[in-house]
Amino acid sequence: MTGCLQGKVALITGAARGQGAAEARLFVAEGAKVVLGDVLEDQVMALAEELRGRGGEALAIRLDVTNEADWTAAVESAEKHFGALHILVNNAGILRLGGIEDTSLEDWDKVLSVNLTGTWLGMKISVPAIRRAGSGSIVNISSIYGLIGSGASAAYHATKGAVRLLTKTAAVQYAREEIRVNSVHPGIIDTPMVEEVFSDEVKAGIGMMTPMGRVGQPEEIAQGVLFLASDAASFITGTELVIDGGYTAQ
Ligand SMILES: NC(=O)c1ccc[n+]([C@@H]2O[C@H](COP(=O)([O-])OP(=O)(O)OC[C@H]3O[C@@H](n4cnc5c(N)ncnc54)[C@H](O)[C@@H]3O)[C@@H](O)[C@H]2O)c1
Repeated sequence: MTGCLQGKVALITGAARGQGAAEARLFVAEGAKVVLGDVLEDQVMALAEELRGRGGEALAIRLDVTNEADWTAAVESAEKHFGALHILVNNAGILRLGGIEDTSLEDWDKVLSVNLTGTWLGMKISVPAIRRAGSGSIVNISSIYGLIGSGASAAYHATKGAVRLLTKTAAVQYAREEIRVNSVHPGIIDTPMVEEVFSDEVKAGIGMMTPMGRVGQPEEIAQGVLFLASDAASFITGTELVIDGGYTAQ
């Protein structure tokens, strides 16, 4: 898919590391100009510098997805520096472990605010710019935990399930405007998020429970996000792309 994002401008949240960073690298390799937002300022600046060093066009900004003013500034930056905004990847997310009774109200509110409110705010603030660009694509990162339950994290499951339906709602609302909206549902992926909460032993155990016998890599999710973001997916909206090595097929 060489150069399939040529001429496109993309805003990726949570781009400092993990899947967001993999998406940023792949999008630039495919010709996109990227605005990279994260609360990890040093890391996201370093990534933008790396991409510029390879001849790409990348701008890093501090973007806390729970903050409306940050979103407005991010979208303005995309239009000011790169002339338009065509693609939004709502990738930023956090995970707090805990079932229904052992989740604190503070953790519940925090997870909802980043994973769900952040995704809604991103669409709300970006859609007018994508409309000005003429057409575009929004990819919301949900999870297999937005499709199935587990005892792992009540708040996380609740947000990822909500992102799935928020995506379909936006897809229906904006379909006639040529703004496509889809969700991606990764299985367990080898990123800092997983490193922080699961031991190597637990990670290996999850790999064993996966039909393909392993956890996924961030680059494998980035390929799916690229497809949905690109014109190759021109008649695809409101769908959910599961990338999980067969985990939810069992
Ligand atoms: N890793 C997995 O197994 C897995 C599985 C399914 C879905 N996901 C989802 O994929 C997405 C990417 O996760 P990852 O695995 O790369 O995790 P990660 O923790 O490695 O990266 C997430 C990024 O989001 C950023 N972030 C957190 N809060 C933010 C905020 N308020 N504003 C802006 N940025 C913020 C972090 O700083 C980090 O750079 C998340 O939405 C996550 O829920 C991950």
